[in-house]
Amino acid sequence: MFVVVGVTGGIAAYKTVHLVRALIASGHEVHVVPTADALRFVGVPTWEAISRHPVTTTVHEDVATVRHVSLGQRADLVIVAPASANTLAKMAAGLAEDLLGTTLLATTAPVVVAPAMHTEMWRHPATRANIATLRERGVHVVGPVDGPLTGGDSGPGRMSEPDDIAAFALGLAAASTDLDGLRVVVTAGGTREPLDPVRFLGNRSSGRQGVALALAAADRGAEVALIAAHVEGDVLAPAAGHPRIAVTAAGTALELQQAAQDAASADVIVMAAAVADYRPARPADGKLTKEQNGDTLRLDLVANPDIVAELAAGRREGQTIVAFAAETETGDALLARARRKRERKGVDLLAVNEVGWDRGFEAAENELTVIGADGAIVAHVAGTKRAVADAVWDAVLASRRTSGTASVS
Ligand code: C5P
Repeated sequence: MFVVVGVTGGIAAYKTVHLVRALIASGHEVHVVPTADALRFVGVPTWEAISRHPVTTTVHEDVATVRHVSLGQRADLVIVAPASANTLAKMAAGLAEDLLGTTLLATTAPVVVAPAMHTEMWRHPATRANIATLRERGVHVVGPVDGPLTGGDSGPGRMSEPDDIAAFALGLAAASTDLDGLRVVVTAGGTREPLDPVRFLGNRSSGRQGVALALAAADRGAEVALIAAHVEGDVLAPAAGHPRIAVTAAGTALELQQAAQDAASADVIVMAAAVADYRPARPADGKLTKEQNGDTLRLDLVANPDIVAELAAGRREGQTIVAFAAETETGDALLARARRKRERKGVDLLAVNEVGWDRGFEAAENELTVIGADGAIVAHVAGTKRAVADAVWDAVLASRRTSGTASVS
């Protein structure tokens, strides 16, 4: 594997020498990218001697090989160890003022950070927020661990041991190709059903879970067609820039139906979009006015086609279809409803989560249960929408293995 090791300014940089050695000893090609500050702790000759590759901190050397992006593009894995509070902040902001910054922006490989800092800095709300942002984008965080720190104090903030970082990162990179060659469709966001030229019936779906599903699949090697209904703010941005994700916009349920049918030959279809069950029967040509309608406005709604049920009914052999359901029930009633819904829609897996006025929608975190073909619970996961997405793909792979369709078609 082509591994980039970023090193930032912290005393734990001396331990990263061992990390680089361990990676090379397990047969990987390692390129070290220190920040200028890191070199105050361990110098260029050490990194060059140990990695056997030239080492620089800036984007202005070796310009002819476009090194500022080529390292990131070629990387199968990027590890930042130690990751200082300052570098985590720069990563969260997407700053690219040195070679490590550009490499991190140019890569689509799994990124692992091993934070190291004093406990107060680790616990600071700014650092917490930066870590949450990075996790949301799919960055993996290993450590820090609890133990003695440089100032003689003790607490969480110590960089994980180099062998632990290597084992974690290499395990991750191996898992990251388990969807290789699979063609998948993911739908995301909420449909908007027009009432008139300026108004619509919509829902609170932000698209975060669907986009996380698309990113997780693409990072694990799949070719992804992401069909996006309305998605909040810049949630779509990381997917739009991913080399293995093609985004198609679909505003209404009927547009989404067309886009899904166009892409229906995929190996896996994951319907995470919140599709309106009903649409206005006849959207008005002009804006609806109070003048025309008075105090009460009645709307005629007609049922939309159940897209996922149609796809499941017309599925080809070897195809896996996953539906999502957001329900306001809890406990056994939620599970019973989810089981009925899975059967009615004829899908392989149904991922159900509890939603309400203050839960489920718009948040960075999610909790869901995946129901399998015989109604059994095959996964229950709580965490960032990215962690939830990975668990859904694990369940998809497990389902394909048990139904004998594990091989890529
Ligand atoms: O019946 P309900 O709307 O709860 O079903 C949710 C699941 O069905 C989601 O996977 C959603 O994308 C899909 N769906 C659909 N077509 C509709 C409504 C929902 O494919 N008209």
